[in-house]
Amino acid sequence: MASSRFVLLLLLSLAPFSCSHPIQETFYQCLSDILLPNTFFTPNTTDFTPLLTSRAINLRFATPSTPKPEVIFTPLNETQIQRAVICAKEQGIQLRFRSGGHDYEGLSYTSFKDPGFVVIDLSKMRGINVDTTENSVWVEAGATLGELYYLVAEKSKTLGFPAGICTSLGVGGHVTGGGYGAMMRKYGLAADNTLDARIINENGDILDRQSMGEDVFWAISGGGGGSFGIIVSWKLKLVPVPETVTMFSVMKTLEEGATKILYRWQEVGSEVDEDLFIRVLIGSKVSDTTNKTVSTTYQALFLGGTDRLLEIMNARFPELGLQKEDCIEMSWIESVMFFAGYQRNVSLSVLLEGKPAFLNYFKAKSDFVREEISESGLEGILNILMEEGSPLMIWNPYGGMMSRILESSTPFPHRNGVLFKIQYVASWMDPAMEDEHVGVIQKLYGYMTQYVSKSPREAYVNFRDLDLGINDKEASIVTLDDDRLSWGKMFFKDNFERLVAIKAKFDPDNVFNHEQSIPILKSE
Ligand SMILES: Cc1cc2nc3c(=O)[nH]c(=O)nc-3n(C[C@H](O)[C@H](O)[C@H](O)COP(=O)(O)OP(=O)(O)OC[C@H]3O[C@@H](n4cnc5c(N)ncnc54)[C@H](O)[C@@H]3O)c2cc1C
Ligand SMILES: *[C@@H]1O[C@H](CO)[C@@H](O)[C@H](O)[C@H]1NC(C)=O
Ligand SMILES: *[C@@H]1O[C@H](CO)[C@@H](O)[C@H](O)[C@H]1NC(C)=O
Ligand SMILES: *[C@@H]1O[C@H](CO)[C@@H](O)[C@H](O)[C@H]1NC(C)=O
Ligand SMILES: *[C@@H]1O[C@H](CO)[C@@H](O)[C@H](O)[C@H]1NC(C)=O
Repeated sequence: MASSRFVLLLLLSLAPFSCSHPIQETFYQCLSDILLPNTFFTPNTTDFTPLLTSRAINLRFATPSTPKPEVIFTPLNETQIQRAVICAKEQGIQLRFRSGGHDYEGLSYTSFKDPGFVVIDLSKMRGINVDTTENSVWVEAGATLGELYYLVAEKSKTLGFPAGICTSLGVGGHVTGGGYGAMMRKYGLAADNTLDARIINENGDILDRQSMGEDVFWAISGGGGGSFGIIVSWKLKLVPVPETVTMFSVMKTLEEGATKILYRWQEVGSEVDEDLFIRVLIGSKVSDTTNKTVSTTYQALFLGGTDRLLEIMNARFPELGLQKEDCIEMSWIESVMFFAGYQRNVSLSVLLEGKPAFLNYFKAKSDFVREEISESGLEGILNILMEEGSPLMIWNPYGGMMSRILESSTPFPHRNGVLFKIQYVASWMDPAMEDEHVGVIQKLYGYMTQYVSKSPREAYVNFRDLDLGINDKEASIVTLDDDRLSWGKMFFKDNFERLVAIKAKFDPDNVFNHEQSIPILKSE
């Protein structure tokens, strides 16, 4: 004991940091021989705050009182990450990993349970290598989906990738949590289209699919970020897209019959031709100076031209009243821009900037619906949403490829029988409004209990939600039925057990852990 304390004191006295920051110091020493300039940031360097906030998408976790890392390390290559893991493990330093920084609960850049954590930020590792002979791509974790889509489209007008709608999402966190977008009914999730990966394990070894084994590859293809290791890069399978796709966005208010149309959408959304994806955005709206209403906006991607789209819509969903003038033909990459919310005059190269389109304070939740909601049920929901300040709801159809993939083929279990997924988003710009908005979204989630999946009530791991329970690594959790793990069944259903078994083998020391990481069970 005495001698190790002496060594520590000796080290500290040589350090370029004060004694009050032992983590900065010991971590720095351990990395020093492989450090390059501008990759190691402590809170008193001028670049620290801009770097921290550059990919801190939820402003709720970027306030002055949010716990800040002791160090942000931005590795430039695999060797540096390997070393960082070895150093952190040796020194018992809690690590956080950040790719795009879109974690709903800020888990990639803050930690409320472990003061003295270090963020490994992958924003400088964003290489992308498209192979059009094999229709595949290697992409590094720090790249954004926008960069990936842009480079694929640049190489081929008839290849795309089925992942998220928001183009600033990071490949590292997104793909490992499932990753859905407008082509999911045709091709499934991003995690359904993974071919290989490079991951750094708890010992700092780098492994590919073959050396990590099929169990671990299964676990990282949908089991969520931050539980098994650091994914450095993914090899993904590209999918065919037509040269011309068609989009539309049509809004209906209550006065225009929103309830009946939404009821009809419930029946067709998951049944219609899988080239067609129609999601619905539902939110309060002031229709004129005095009257409140609800707007339901039908946003669609069709993998084909206007004529065939109109035929399908007239046959299956005439209630929406889609007109030829509503349909806009474009390339797949333009449809990516459209869904991401860019105006049509914005240049495609904005996708290469890798920046979020906007930042706000938000709280979000998710649900899956397996039984049609009655028309009066829908009316009740729309009535609640009519109130100003109520959350936005996004209803996302399933079916098609999603229902043909077995629940056990990836950790993501929300497959056959799901009609649609609900996302709830409460967002605000005044930090003082937090309690009110969080209260309203929780109340709506409570009200929705009667209409959504049960036992378990399903939820989407990429919509991280700490209301569902927190895995406290210090506490003795001995059974998967522990309330603190209720999120496990909600995110993964029966796949949770297999994830826990793989975790116990692959990361027995629980080096990779956070509030909802796959747990290591303690024996009684
Ligand atoms: C505005 C917005 C829009 C969204 N739209 C969609 C959508 O259309 N479709 C969809 O499916 N989801 C969507 N999401 C959710 C999104 O998929 C998840 O938040 C996803 O985890 C983000 O990945 P990231 O790399 O950007 O986030 P990060 O915050 O960097 O990481 C998320 C989690 O993964 C871990 N992690 C990060 N990098 C790695 C790595 N290299 N290896 C291992 N673990 C890692 C982190 O520790 C963290 O726990 C959206 C989120 C936001 C905020
Ligand atoms: C940062 O603070 C440490 C003390 O923790 C100090 O030794 C170091 O010189 C400071 N660096 C800068 C750039 O101010
Ligand atoms: C990564 O960079 C370090 C310098 O910091 C260098 O020593 C190492 O060889 C590099 N590794 C690879 C795989 O390029
Ligand atoms: C508000 O709605 C009512 C009933 O739908 C309608 O009669 C009234 O004209 C509307 N008010 C305005 C200002 O349009
Ligand atoms: C695009 O058009 C909008 C108005 O439709 C305008 O406000 C904006 O400045 C334009 N942007 C560019 C990049 O031209």
